[in-house]
Amino acid sequence: MLVLGIETSCDETATAVLNISSPGSFKILSECVASQTDVHRAYGGVVPELASREHLTALPLLLEECLAQSQVPLEKIDLIGVTCGPGLKGCLLTGVEFAKGLSIASRVPTVGVNHIEGHVWAPRLIHPELEPPFLALIASGGHSEIQIVKGIGEYELIARTVDDAAGEAFDKSAALMDFPYPGGPALAQMADTFAGKPRFALPKVMREAKGLSFAGLKTAISLLVQREKQSGSFQSSKAEIASAVQNAIVDALLFKVGKALEASRLSTLVVTGGVSANAYLREKAMSLRVPHVLFPAKQHCMDNAAMIAYVAGIRFLICGECGSQKESLEIHPRWPIEHAGEQLV
Ligand code: KG4
Ligand code: ZN
Repeated sequence: MLVLGIETSCDETATAVLNISSPGSFKILSECVASQTDVHRAYGGVVPELASREHLTALPLLLEECLAQSQVPLEKIDLIGVTCGPGLKGCLLTGVEFAKGLSIASRVPTVGVNHIEGHVWAPRLIHPELEPPFLALIASGGHSEIQIVKGIGEYELIARTVDDAAGEAFDKSAALMDFPYPGGPALAQMADTFAGKPRFALPKVMREAKGLSFAGLKTAISLLVQREKQSGSFQSSKAEIASAVQNAIVDALLFKVGKALEASRLSTLVVTGGVSANAYLREKAMSLRVPHVLFPAKQHCMDNAAMIAYVAGIRFLICGECGSQKESLEIHPRWPIEHAGEQLV
């Protein structure tokens, strides 16, 4: 089955073509991503209206490029998978309406995919052996979640974002340290240049909170940066501060993951989403008491369409036309993954 994936939930436009025979047997034929980072940098964050317009311009070009790379003409596509939520309303609408148009023109069924569900299964793209049940930490720019994954469409929530998501915590901390948007990866890169234990003690966030919360971290970083700037030592201690910030965020996430592993006694942990590209998070996750720890390939940590095509394909293989709509496909800007298995109407 040849599946075209379309992803436009935030600031990355992505398309992919996968050939899927079964959940464990598939091939990525092509994948294309157009990042809008440069467009949003001047504003210090994603501007939804600009993002939707960028998707609109990029989608036809990316579709063409992706089909050409895969050497699959549109007429040969069997199924379209498109992100319906969660995400920015205008961005989701652009992708879904584009998919609907393609679907009607080429008479191909379309499956609406939950973006978080895409992230959960992204590691399968390089680990076809990954089987549920497993524990998943989804750490992205918009969401932090810990879920027990029992199967496609079957999730049990353990904890989710209360305030900032993990990627947001990285990006906002980076902004306080004068890194240009989105500063998360740059902060991480600088943190990794610091060897040893940073002198700065940031609060141990999230431990007591019920959900995943970074309350108090920004204030602590802001005060620390202010103090270091006033004493003229900010530049020389920047890598050390970055390391302290990275430690605090990773510690907070993995403390909760450790508790969930203990309670659930699951033997596999999946760490996914944009922040799973972080080398320190990967290293620390590998040292948890769990036999198997799996991550996505680097290109599938960030938003991509291969994970969307994959989930669409598997859903279609499991339940055929169920979950597939054409004209009636709708966006769900707030769509908890626990409801991803329900029919979209
Ligand atoms: O999953 P993603 O592409 O988008 C959302 O669905 O939100 O995640 C993007 C987030 C951004 O906040 C970015 O700063 C963060 O992932 N990120 C990182 C790293 N690479 C990306 N954060 C920390 N360390 C990294 N290496
Ligand atoms: Zn994402």
